[in-house]
Amino acid sequence: MPSCHFTVVFILALFSISTISTTPYYYSCSEDFFLMTRERNMKQCKKLSTLGFEFGWNYHNGSFIDVFIGAKLQYPVAGWMAWGVNPHDKPQMVGTRALIGIKHPNGSLIIKTYSITGDIKLGCKLLPSKIDVEVQNMKFEYSIQTQYYTIFATLSLPSVYNISRLNHLWQTGYAALGSEPKMHPSTLQNVDSSETINLYTGRSKQSVGVSRRHLRTAHAILNIIGWGVLMPSGVIAARYFKKFPFENMTRWWFCLHVSLQIGGYILGTSGWAIGLWLGGASKYYSFGAHRILAMLIFSFTSLQMFALCLRPKADDEYRKYWNIYHHFLGYALLVLISVNILEGIAILKADHTWRKIYIGLIVSITLALESVTWIKFLIYKLKRNAK
Ligand code: HEM
Ligand SMILES: *[C@@H]1O[C@H](CO)[C@@H](O)[C@H](O)[C@H]1NC(C)=O
Ligand SMILES: *[C@@H]1O[C@H](CO)[C@@H](O)[C@H](O)[C@H]1NC(C)=O
Ligand SMILES: *[C@@H]1O[C@H](CO)[C@@H](O)[C@H](O)[C@H]1NC(C)=O
Repeated sequence: MPSCHFTVVFILALFSISTISTTPYYYSCSEDFFLMTRERNMKQCKKLSTLGFEFGWNYHNGSFIDVFIGAKLQYPVAGWMAWGVNPHDKPQMVGTRALIGIKHPNGSLIIKTYSITGDIKLGCKLLPSKIDVEVQNMKFEYSIQTQYYTIFATLSLPSVYNISRLNHLWQTGYAALGSEPKMHPSTLQNVDSSETINLYTGRSKQSVGVSRRHLRTAHAILNIIGWGVLMPSGVIAARYFKKFPFENMTRWWFCLHVSLQIGGYILGTSGWAIGLWLGGASKYYSFGAHRILAMLIFSFTSLQMFALCLRPKADDEYRKYWNIYHHFLGYALLVLISVNILEGIAILKADHTWRKIYIGLIVSITLALESVTWIKFLIYKLKRNAK
C-alpha cells in the first residue's frame, strides 16, 4: 500500500514541476531567417507562434508595407504556403486576403492572390482572384542553403486596415491542384496560426492566449498520466503481478491495482474536465472523434469504478460473470485510451516522433510482459509433465 501512494505522489509532483517551468516565447527570429531579412532590407522580424513560421516586415508609412514570410517546410510532392491579412475585427480565416505560393509537382513555384470567403470552409474551390490590397513584387522562393520557403511582397493597404492592429494569418498545406490549394491539416498548429500584430512595435495579441496554452498542456499531461500510464499500470498489476514477488501476496496486487486505478481515475477525470472546457472555449473548430472517445472513456472508467462498491462477494455465483465483464471492459478501455491519446497527439502537433515513441512503448511493454507470462506458464507445464 505505501508504495502505491508513493507512485501517485511522485507523479503529482512531476506534474506540478512541469507546469511551473513553462516555455518562454521568443520574439526575435532565427539566425538563418534574420540573415535573409537583412538581404531584403527588412527592419524587423519575429518568430510566429505556430508551424515554424517567421515574419519580417518594414513600414514606409501607415499603408505601405513590405512583408517577408518564411518557414522550413517539407513538401512531399506539391504544397502551399500562405500569408494573409483580414480587415474584420478578428484574425480568422474567413474574410482573409491571402498571398499563396504553390509548389507544383514539376518543381515550379508560383504565387497568386486569393480571397478566402465562407464558401471555402464549406468545400468550394479556392481559386486565384483580385484582392482589395494592392500587391507589388510578389515572390515565392526556396533557398537551398537555408531550406526556407519564403514569400515576399510590397503591399499598399486600403484605409480599413490599421497597421497598429493588423490581423494576419499564416498557413501551409500539402496538396494543390494547378493553382488551387487543397485543405490544410487541422491540427492545433494549423488553427492557431493567426494573431493581431502592431507593426510599429512588433507586439502581438495571439488569437489563443497563454492561459489556454497552459490548460492544453495540463490537459495533455493529466490525461496521458491518468488514463495512459496509471490505469494501464493498474491492469498490468492485476494481470501479471498476482503472484509476485511471493506466491501468497494476493492482497498486495489488489491494493496496487485499486490505488493505481483510483489515482488514474482522479487525474484522468481532471484532465477530461479541462478538455471539456477547452472544447467549449474554441469557437472555430472542434475535434469530433477525440471528443466522442473521451466521453466513452470517461463513462466506461466510471462504470469500472463502481467495482469498488458493486462487486459481488467472492463466493457469489455471479462473481464469475462479473469478472468476465470487468476484464472485458478493462481491455476495451485500454484500446480506446491508446487510440485517443494518439488522436490527441495528432491534434496537438503533426509530429510523428511522439506517435512513434508512444506506440513503441506500448508494444514493447506488452510484448515483454506477455512473453514473461507465457514463459512462466510453459515452465509450469513442463514441470507438471515431468512429475
Ligand atoms: C485551401 C482551401 C482551404 C480550406 C478548404 C480550408 C478549410 C478550413 C476549415 C474546414 C477550417 C476549420 C478547421 C476545423 O474545424 O478543424 C479551417 C481553419 C482555418 N484555416 Fe483554412 N482552409 C483553406 C485555406 C486556408 C488558407 C489559405 C489560410 C490562411 C491564409 C487558412 C487559415 C486558416 C486558419 C487560421 C484557421 C483557424 C480557424 C479560423 O480562423 O477560422 N486556411 N480552414
Ligand atoms: C506611403 O509611401 C509610399 C512609398 O514610400 C508613397 O508612394 C505613398 O504615397 C505614401 N502614402 C502616404 C499616405 O503617405
Ligand atoms: C489605428 O489604431 C490606433 C489604436 O487602436 C488608433 O490610435 C489610430 O488612430 C488608428 N489609426 C487609424 C489611421 O485609424
Ligand atoms: C509546372 O506545372 C504548373 C501547373 O501544372 C504549370 O503552371 C507550370 O507552367 C509548370 N512548369 C514547368 C516548368 O513545366
